[in-house]
Amino acid sequence: MNAKETTSERDARVMRLYEQLVEIEQRLIPTGLHVFGRAAELREKADLLRMVASFDRPEHGARALARLIAEALDVDSYDALLHETSAGETRELIDGIVAEAVHQFCEDGVDTAVDWLNSKAGVDGEESRPTFLLLTRVAEQLDSNNEIDSLVRALRGEFIRPGPGADIVQNPLVLPTGRNTHAVNPYSVPSQMACARAQHTADALLRRYFDEHGRYPRALALVLWGLDNIKTQGEGVAQALWLLGVRPVRDALNRATEIAVIPLEELSRPRIDVVMTVSGIFRDLFTPTMALLDKAVRRVATLDEPLDMNYVRRNVSQKIDADGFEFDDAVTRVFSNAPGNYGTNVNFMVMQSAWENDATLGDLFVTRKCFAYTRDSNGRSVEGREAPELMDDALSRVEATYQNIDSFEVGITDVDHYFEYLGGISKAVETRAKSRPSIYLSDSLSPQTKIRSLEETVRLETRAKTLNPKWYEGMLKHGFRGVAEIENHVANTFGWSATADAVDPWIYTEISQTFLLDPIMLNRLRELNPHSLQSLARRLLEAHNRGYWNPAEEILERLREISSELEAAKELIV
Ligand code: BEZ
Ligand code: MG
Repeated sequence: MNAKETTSERDARVMRLYEQLVEIEQRLIPTGLHVFGRAAELREKADLLRMVASFDRPEHGARALARLIAEALDVDSYDALLHETSAGETRELIDGIVAEAVHQFCEDGVDTAVDWLNSKAGVDGEESRPTFLLLTRVAEQLDSNNEIDSLVRALRGEFIRPGPGADIVQNPLVLPTGRNTHAVNPYSVPSQMACARAQHTADALLRRYFDEHGRYPRALALVLWGLDNIKTQGEGVAQALWLLGVRPVRDALNRATEIAVIPLEELSRPRIDVVMTVSGIFRDLFTPTMALLDKAVRRVATLDEPLDMNYVRRNVSQKIDADGFEFDDAVTRVFSNAPGNYGTNVNFMVMQSAWENDATLGDLFVTRKCFAYTRDSNGRSVEGREAPELMDDALSRVEATYQNIDSFEVGITDVDHYFEYLGGISKAVETRAKSRPSIYLSDSLSPQTKIRSLEETVRLETRAKTLNPKWYEGMLKHGFRGVAEIENHVANTFGWSATADAVDPWIYTEISQTFLLDPIMLNRLRELNPHSLQSLARRLLEAHNRGYWNPAEEILERLREISSELEAAKELIV
């Protein structure tokens, strides 16, 4: 304890630590790779079922078990417990009952679990039964696996049953796997459910920015992906609309093609200027949705409202008055790749260490993503006009960048796509706005959507995965591929240093200690996959050379030794 710290400061510090531990504990941590054709193992199944049971599912008439238990125990609200400093024990009690009830269900089925929950916590059997019946269906489907059979049938050109694409926890109807994943009807996006959730998330995002800066961001850059908007039925799209202060309106054919403006009195905050960068997949799948987003910005820009309550109008009219822009140019906010192109290539540049100064990564992002998709004032559709000057201008006012994470399976250090997009756009903003934006991610993985800064998210993912023995031992069960996965995580973490300077130095130190400076682990990794091990050592040295991390000289010396030993061993093999 620090000498100047009072008891209440110490308690607050312990509480913050406790909250972080709970956060890591509550995450679903993948403990291995999916093996094609193999059904889920028992422990993995129990974890998934517990997560499925943590959401209310009105479409199945099922309630979240934790909420049912909280009500039966006369606790006001389970959700409130997560934010109350004095409620740790009650929350642990409820979480323990949920875990045991799911365990009983896995061992002995619905009746036993219903009865046990009734005797343990007084939950009415009629209330909990629909949830366990839902779990029964999910468990049966997790036990069956048709993937190899479906693949063989697909190769024979036979029919494969279609099924929706989503995260199992978000939509258990994605099971069984091994079906032909179908997308959504783009006109159905965003759904009502997506709008309700998006409102909550976007408000939390604005509140977080407001708490940190004492005002709202005047312009925000949003990354929209295709698969995510399929999974969530358009939550990202709905967030953009809500930030602008509009709602989607359906036409006579129930297609979301129009928008309605939410009056400022109802919105009670300014309309935020939103720059949208959509992936190539989004562009291909959601053409009408891009038109809807463009229409929303154009409508908001023409509203007769005070400039300090309508940042879109403010920014657009300033470009017209001060810089002589045409309205069509000043209002362009929806950007993607050139038609037929995908990706930002920022990930390739980082992985190949092929950049010299920071600005290059943001410039590459703009070069790839500066194609405007809009409908001009004459009603002509513009499908991918190269407009780097318009994107530069739009990004030059951005104060915050943002993306959703919405799958348990894929987080920001699992793949290189998060840093190529959110990192890439943040770096592009940094050089154009002459100031690093605040970078946020939402986490709609749990029932309580959370906004975190990028730095917080990198820390959380590192603790939950890369440095978590449960995660890396799960990966190492896969031998050669497992080491490659660990190396991938480190490389993706490095990507967040390169694009956004968002990685605490201790993370690189702990990674070195866990995988390279521990002789037993070093030998295991060397036996399994010396190539990935060498890339890992080199990546850590590069992190130092680029100034992301400045460890003790002994650590660097040891990493250099390991890297040269591995290089020499490689030459011997050749
Ligand atoms: C997408 O769903 O749009 C997407 C997926 C992976 C990488 C980039 C974009
Ligand atoms: Mg890789």
